[in-house]
Amino acid sequence: MAVIPVALAGRSYEVRVGTNLLARVGEECGPLLRKHYVPVVTDGNVAQHWRDAVDAGLQAVGKEAEWLVLDPGEAAKSWRVLEGLMDWLLAQEVERGDHILALGGGVIGDLTGFAAAILKRGCGFIQLPTTLLAQVDSSVGGKTAINSRAGKNLIGAFHQPSLVLADLAALETLPEREMRAGYAEVAKYGVLGDADFFAWCEANGAAVLSGDSTAQEYAITKSVETKARIVAEDERETTGARALLNLGHTFGHALEAATGFSDRLLHGEAVALGMVLAARFSAGRGLMSAADAERVADHIGRVGLPASLAGLGLKCEGVDLVAHMLHDKKMDAGTLPFVLLRGIGAAFLDKSVALEDVAAFLDDELQRA
Ligand SMILES: NC(=O)c1ccc[n+]([C@@H]2O[C@H](COP(=O)([O-])OP(=O)(O)OC[C@H]3O[C@@H](n4cnc5c(N)ncnc54)[C@H](O)[C@@H]3O)[C@@H](O)[C@H]2O)c1
Ligand SMILES: [Zn+2]
Repeated sequence: MAVIPVALAGRSYEVRVGTNLLARVGEECGPLLRKHYVPVVTDGNVAQHWRDAVDAGLQAVGKEAEWLVLDPGEAAKSWRVLEGLMDWLLAQEVERGDHILALGGGVIGDLTGFAAAILKRGCGFIQLPTTLLAQVDSSVGGKTAINSRAGKNLIGAFHQPSLVLADLAALETLPEREMRAGYAEVAKYGVLGDADFFAWCEANGAAVLSGDSTAQEYAITKSVETKARIVAEDERETTGARALLNLGHTFGHALEAATGFSDRLLHGEAVALGMVLAARFSAGRGLMSAADAERVADHIGRVGLPASLAGLGLKCEGVDLVAHMLHDKKMDAGTLPFVLLRGIGAAFLDKSVALEDVAAFLDDELQRA
């Protein structure tokens, strides 16, 4: 098992990465669980595979789970579902010193984390991430949110978990497409800040995806270490350091919007292609070599993620994609900052990008054979 500390004044916590952590959940949580009954929030898909393990892991230390099983999908990050969740938590008599367990992907983690942030002005929660995306990204760093009609993740709070248990066993039941989508965020950590780790991904990405647990533990540990370092430096995204984690996300957001935030393009798939676009755009501006930009595109394509904008078959123009970007919450006083690359492992925040340049670049990419 690997243990990665997330160092935050007064609110430090551990991310533990290893096999069969869910089956030992009671032991791993130890004194964080104060009462006999432990509230666990999950979704139907995750419950089907992992409810018994968590029940047994709690029973082993004399505790009992109280389950709230929600419908799977992004729609759970809504006022309606949040209201039901809050009522349920209040009925369970959860108090400020208690911990709620969030068992699932980023949807369950974001929703439950936000509920924990506002229940009685803040109670504890523990992340039990079961998707690769949640294990390397959403469960760490304390961003919690629900969606609104105006956009994704616009209503939320910073609220750090007390512990994160990333169980590699959970990945065994994750659909292959979800696994690949999560892998995009793993490769992202290499591309944004660690050229050696990107080279490792080139050599070992296939092993991560095919279920090699040694490769998975390394990939998750490296990813979480990078995220933990950046979050410790800039918890609330005020200095710009944390914004680097958005590499590929501004382009990606436009692609998600253009495909209606649907199954046509999962978030991770959009980020993968967004990262390729950020690299090619950077190369076009002379910031990085075209060869390095194509190295990013090659790796993304090789692991089965989308690496070509033309390949998406969108019926739109560059300006339409830019319009989607402008609806993104990351607007800062009227300018749209882009995370660009000075090379693999050398991301930086550029606030001076002209949107006409982006639109023209996207028009070329939409045509590119
Ligand atoms: N808070 C953050 O910092 C942050 C960062 C990135 C993404 N997010 C959010 O995360 C969400 C996406 O998370 P996600 O990709 O994990 O999606 P998700 O939670 O919807 O999970 C994807 C699918 O996999 C299923 N599933 C989960 N674990 C499984 C398992 N072990 N076996 C079988 N099926 C399983 C789920 O039921 C769901 O159908 C988005 O809402 C996004 O906004 C948040
Ligand atoms: Zn992401």
